[in-house]
Amino acid sequence: MTDQSIKIIDLKYARKFYIYIILVLFAFNTSAMASERIQLIPQKGSHQFPFFDQPTPVWHYNGQMPGPMIKGKVGSTLKVEVINRLDEPTSVHWHGMRIDNAMDGVPGVTQDPIQPGETFIYQLKLIEAGTFWYHPHLTAGEQMERGLKGVLIVEPLEKLPWSQDLVWLLDDWRLQKDGTIYPHFNTGHDLMHDGRWGNVVTVNGKWKPTYFASPGERIRLRLINGANARVFLPSLDGLDASLIAVDGKPVTTIFPFTQFYLAPGNRIDLDITIPIDAAGKTFTFSDSFTRKGFPLAAIKVNDEKPTQTPILNIPTAGNYIPATLFNKVDAAKVWDLNALRGGQYGIGWAINQKLWPDADAGNLKIGQPQKVVFKNSSSRLHPMHIHGAFFRVLEKNNRSAVEPFTRDTVLVGPRESITIGLIPEHNGIWLTHCHIQSHADAGMITTITVD
Ligand code: C2O
Ligand code: CU
Repeated sequence: MTDQSIKIIDLKYARKFYIYIILVLFAFNTSAMASERIQLIPQKGSHQFPFFDQPTPVWHYNGQMPGPMIKGKVGSTLKVEVINRLDEPTSVHWHGMRIDNAMDGVPGVTQDPIQPGETFIYQLKLIEAGTFWYHPHLTAGEQMERGLKGVLIVEPLEKLPWSQDLVWLLDDWRLQKDGTIYPHFNTGHDLMHDGRWGNVVTVNGKWKPTYFASPGERIRLRLINGANARVFLPSLDGLDASLIAVDGKPVTTIFPFTQFYLAPGNRIDLDITIPIDAAGKTFTFSDSFTRKGFPLAAIKVNDEKPTQTPILNIPTAGNYIPATLFNKVDAAKVWDLNALRGGQYGIGWAINQKLWPDADAGNLKIGQPQKVVFKNSSSRLHPMHIHGAFFRVLEKNNRSAVEPFTRDTVLVGPRESITIGLIPEHNGIWLTHCHIQSHADAGMITTITVD
């Protein structure tokens, strides 16, 4: 073989190699940009609770309780085709997600209601990883109570390092003796108090479920409060945990988990280490918000040999929406939260004396830091939620109380006032409301226009 022929062969390989590289790049690129198509079908069905002989009639997505867990990767677009098989109009809102305003799922604001038999396609561009959830935004006090809700997880491009990614959607139900759902929604009592609290608490639709882990294992646990009104204060039975994300966004600094008021709409992600000497043990997670605490779920540690606890590099959000940015912003908007006579139920819940739909909190400029005070003039709870944005808690009752994370929902206690800082980043008309569905149905909704 001459030198010449060797070169020719080399070149041939080189060309093949280039084509190979191009193909790989193409495949990677298309998978990262892939748009996945999913169907979500709100419909009537049933769910078996352990206490009753017959299943309970519920409304759910795709016949599943909770709805299917939707997963997608950052950079991709999800196409969710919602086919309404209920007898009434509905919509789907993607709680906490920053997406095109037209995809936000709010009838009367961002779209028309999806009528029975109609289909609406939501296109969700996934711009950040995190724990989100979805639920209707129409007659939500009833539709969510009957069971319509589910979790949406946006995954980072790299594989999550935890050996288990547990997702617990917390919820409560008001069930009657025969197992059916108490059919009066937004009763006078619910409206005057903290909304509709159920008598059965579930995790992923199950009553006190048990999950399994190995000694030494590191787990990511995502807790989502999907209840209509109930606040949870989860405790972990002595397990070591760090708070790594709040409302879908990584915390700015990771710190040990002590307590968190998980109000309707809130999510927290925890990094939990199972002790290496815990073989055979059961850890019971309970709720301690109400005087009489109760178990939510358990993690049972199997008898396997301990695995070595991995050391993980957990991402943080750095100094996202830094509190110092708001030092020079002096004029805060005050949103007064209080009860008011009027509205369709006679008892209304108002923001600045206005009841939805006659409410509008005005315009905010994109990119401009804003301070808002949620001033609770009532003696009830109001978990206030802003669509399409994260914000940072700066003050409680006019005292500095900067949180090391951002949120999309904050619990404002009786007579409490909470000052938040936000930087509007996305154009559109975004809803702001109390996430106690009965309060929202009774008027506690307004909009902010970001332009
Ligand atoms: Cu879960 Cu308008 O929100
Ligand atoms: Cu409220």
